[in-house]
Amino acid sequence: MQQKVAELEAKALAAVAAAADEAQLTELKVAYLGKKGEITQLSRMMGQLDAAERPAFGALVNQVKSSVEAAVAARMESLQAAARNARLQAETIDVTLPGARFTRGNRHILSLVQQQMEEIFIGLGYQVVQGPQVEYDYYNFEALNLPKDHPARDMQDSFYFSPNMLLRTHTSPVQARTMEKMQGRLPVMIISPGVVYRRDDDATHSPMFHQLEGLVIDKHVTFADLRGTLLAFARQMFGPEREVRLRPSYFPFTEPSAEVDISCFNCGGAGCRLCKGSGWIEILGSGQVHPRVLEMSGYDPEQCSGFAFGMGIERVAMLKYGITDLRLMFDNDVRFLNSF
Ligand code: DAH
Repeated sequence: MQQKVAELEAKALAAVAAAADEAQLTELKVAYLGKKGEITQLSRMMGQLDAAERPAFGALVNQVKSSVEAAVAARMESLQAAARNARLQAETIDVTLPGARFTRGNRHILSLVQQQMEEIFIGLGYQVVQGPQVEYDYYNFEALNLPKDHPARDMQDSFYFSPNMLLRTHTSPVQARTMEKMQGRLPVMIISPGVVYRRDDDATHSPMFHQLEGLVIDKHVTFADLRGTLLAFARQMFGPEREVRLRPSYFPFTEPSAEVDISCFNCGGAGCRLCKGSGWIEILGSGQVHPRVLEMSGYDPEQCSGFAFGMGIERVAMLKYGITDLRLMFDNDVRFLNSF
């Protein structure tokens, strides 16, 4: 009996050592050590033995089982190592091949135009400041001389979080925030670009869009300064031949207020489709800062004066690059985005 066991062990070990690959070895493992495997079956023979011989026989079978198991594991490891080595030998890497190219992206048209606008105003001595997009009713309206029941609020319906908090409808609240922070110091000379929100959605309006606000306060700041500043901006942005035209308008936070047109850069003022035949294109709202607005944020209208303006960045981009549908800027079509 013991002889038989020893022979079986020798046979199993030889077969394992000769296994050519992982699949074959797995088959052998099942054949010897599986549920119905030859070595597993040895235990069955226990019944034919005298009770006294059984413990020694059981121990022998267990020892054979572990020696074959160990041989299988060792063979498996060496077969896997050999397979890995063969793969590494076959895979040569040619370090002289050209690498995979990364295509470089480009700025979004709005970032581009915003940066151009910022650079012009920085060149004129302005500082760039930011304000929050989730804004208090106080800064968005009250501090800009738009009390709760003011009819001009209707044109700026927005998304409210609570009666006193909303997504800002324009960048003008940054005027009041800046004045508060400056605590009466002069001069104030800032621009504030950023995202604003309104309940509006068509080819020329998006519920989310961008504005650039400007605010200047100092002693003796006049309407002429406003005009000169906007003329300088228009010429740098749209070409040295541009003229500006101020039309009387109304904003609660400026007095007097003006809407500003630039001479059409497409036809030079003769009249074309872009300017709808008028020779002029409207680009922004502006005015002398209302004395009440100065007062509310801690500036004495007897001691200083200022002007402010606000323009749509999408509008400037559309005019400058001849884009006819504002929604293109938010569609994320790379053919459009890559063309700037
Ligand atoms: N906040 C105005 C708007 O969104 C634009 C504007 C007009 C801003 C006149 C100004 C200004 O600073 O003086 O329609």
